[in-house]
Amino acid sequence: MCGIVGYVGGQQAAPLLLEGLTRLEHRGYDSAGVAVLGPTGVKVAKRAGRVRQLSEELPKRFAGKLGIGHTRWATHGPANDVNAHPHVDASGEVAVVHNGIIDNAAALRHRLADQGVDLASDTDTEVLAHLVARSGADTLEGKVRDALSAIEGTYGVAVMHADFPDRIVVARNGSPLIIGVGDKEMHVASDLAALVRYTTTIAYLDDGEMATLTAGGFTTYRQDLTSTNKTATTLDIDPSSYDAGDHDSFMHKEMVEQPAAAERVLRGRLDERFGTAHLGGLNMDARETRAIRRVKILGCGSAYYVGQMGAALLEELARIPADAEAASEFRYRNPIIVSDTLYVAVSQSGETIDTLLAVQEIRRKGGRVIGLVNVVGSAIARECDGGIYLHAGPEVAVASTKALTNMFLGFALLALQLGRVRDLSIADGKRLIAGLQQLPGQLAEMLEREDELAAIATSLAEAESLFFVGRVRGFPVAREGAQKFKEISYRHAEAYQTSELKHGPLALISEAVPTVAIVPGDELTDRNVAALHEIAARRGPLVVVTHADVDLGDVEAVRIDVPRNERELDPILLTVPLQLLAYHAALRLGHDIDKPRNLAKSVTVE
Ligand code: F6R
Repeated sequence: MCGIVGYVGGQQAAPLLLEGLTRLEHRGYDSAGVAVLGPTGVKVAKRAGRVRQLSEELPKRFAGKLGIGHTRWATHGPANDVNAHPHVDASGEVAVVHNGIIDNAAALRHRLADQGVDLASDTDTEVLAHLVARSGADTLEGKVRDALSAIEGTYGVAVMHADFPDRIVVARNGSPLIIGVGDKEMHVASDLAALVRYTTTIAYLDDGEMATLTAGGFTTYRQDLTSTNKTATTLDIDPSSYDAGDHDSFMHKEMVEQPAAAERVLRGRLDERFGTAHLGGLNMDARETRAIRRVKILGCGSAYYVGQMGAALLEELARIPADAEAASEFRYRNPIIVSDTLYVAVSQSGETIDTLLAVQEIRRKGGRVIGLVNVVGSAIARECDGGIYLHAGPEVAVASTKALTNMFLGFALLALQLGRVRDLSIADGKRLIAGLQQLPGQLAEMLEREDELAAIATSLAEAESLFFVGRVRGFPVAREGAQKFKEISYRHAEAYQTSELKHGPLALISEAVPTVAIVPGDELTDRNVAALHEIAARRGPLVVVTHADVDLGDVEAVRIDVPRNERELDPILLTVPLQLLAYHAALRLGHDIDKPRNLAKSVTVE
């Protein structure tokens, strides 16, 4: 989704802005632009396409020590040079970049047109530039405040003005903005990834907050211009964790990081003596925990599928009825919020708008929500009553891997803690803890078999269409496997319950349609093997993700044997090979792994 960067200080702004935009590329975008304020006023360069093309075509004279930049994901109007940000007012003195959506843009465009303003683009954002220019306030802060008071919708916005050459004014309402403090210079960006190369001393803006950045520092205030006195803190992060290093893509790096990430999410949270977990961030005592009658899990995409895995863990270990639902559906159906239900929001970015709005709806109706969130201090993390940070480290690739693994482990910890204040025995608690402790090593073992999986992926990449099937515990695994495969290989990959094959999809099975079947060695193995026979009888090629001791009989299939753990924890070990299959199929097909077409890392607009 759209990205914002800004700089004011002693250096030339354009190279810094372009570098920052490159760091935001993974979020997904279709056009990019920068504006700088130099001795001859505001200069803008923008175009549809990649940041690299923008850099190559930047005018020779593009000097200025203050500037803003943007990567755009088209919402209002197609992706073209004119609709790219920054947008300027009629005089070219005001430049604006904006993330989010202005809901009343059409009405504002009409009003401005009636007042004789020529609108150059089809965008909602352009109205902001005109509104800032037309404000009668005598400060830039006042002008931006006036413009924002006319708009309805969501925004992260950065504004510069030729009459106020020492400052950038920024504001946030629903779309993240982070201020980065340098040495006699200030940065702003919508994502930490664009800042860490320059500074790790940062301040997060809250919704409804504005800030002024000058080379000497920053001030924060509410929209009525009263101060919020925010100060910056220095984060303990390693800037190199935002680089792909020796890997050909962030996705590869992030898959390989899974064992270490898994150790981090478990660290300090397992209580071997009492066979339970300690999740201090839940903010619930044992009595409150016992009072929970249901768990409702909400997330989008892969976070929803891992939520289904989490629901199974909660039902099996804590014996609490639990289900997962796509947050994007939940929020539109006037959900009934029940006080003894625990709501769980799952999100890597902590920014996904549908999940955020679902959380807000639940809280508005008095429900208790906890978050399983990776990005510390993100909007969802801040909205929740408590939660479990995932500690996966920065995840840059669009396709979620290590964050998803840690979401699963977060659910395992939650199920363990809830289970132990209910009916899970201490022996079972200890059994699960031993399984969790074994997991990082087993993830590493699986990742070491990359060559074997690459060879299997090569054959799958040939197929135009594939099925991923699983039963009960295996079904969310199949859904996640199909999701990974389709999003980066662009092959049609459809997930089905193995039990439902006979009720429709079997009609599509043929030599040309391979099936990836999830067949763990558990109480359902026989039923699953029977389904494999049905597929094989229709000449459907089979890849079976299973355990070494599972007997597939005379079914002709390529096997992927994953390490055995406790059966409740199987889903995550069954998922990792599917990541590698998707990755190697996409590599084989020559796709841009980290920037799949039409997709964005964080879906921050509705
Ligand atoms: C798939 C993927 C997406 C995200 C979804 C939710 O690999 O990454 O389906 O899982 O957009 O994103 P978060 O977890 O940031 O809320």
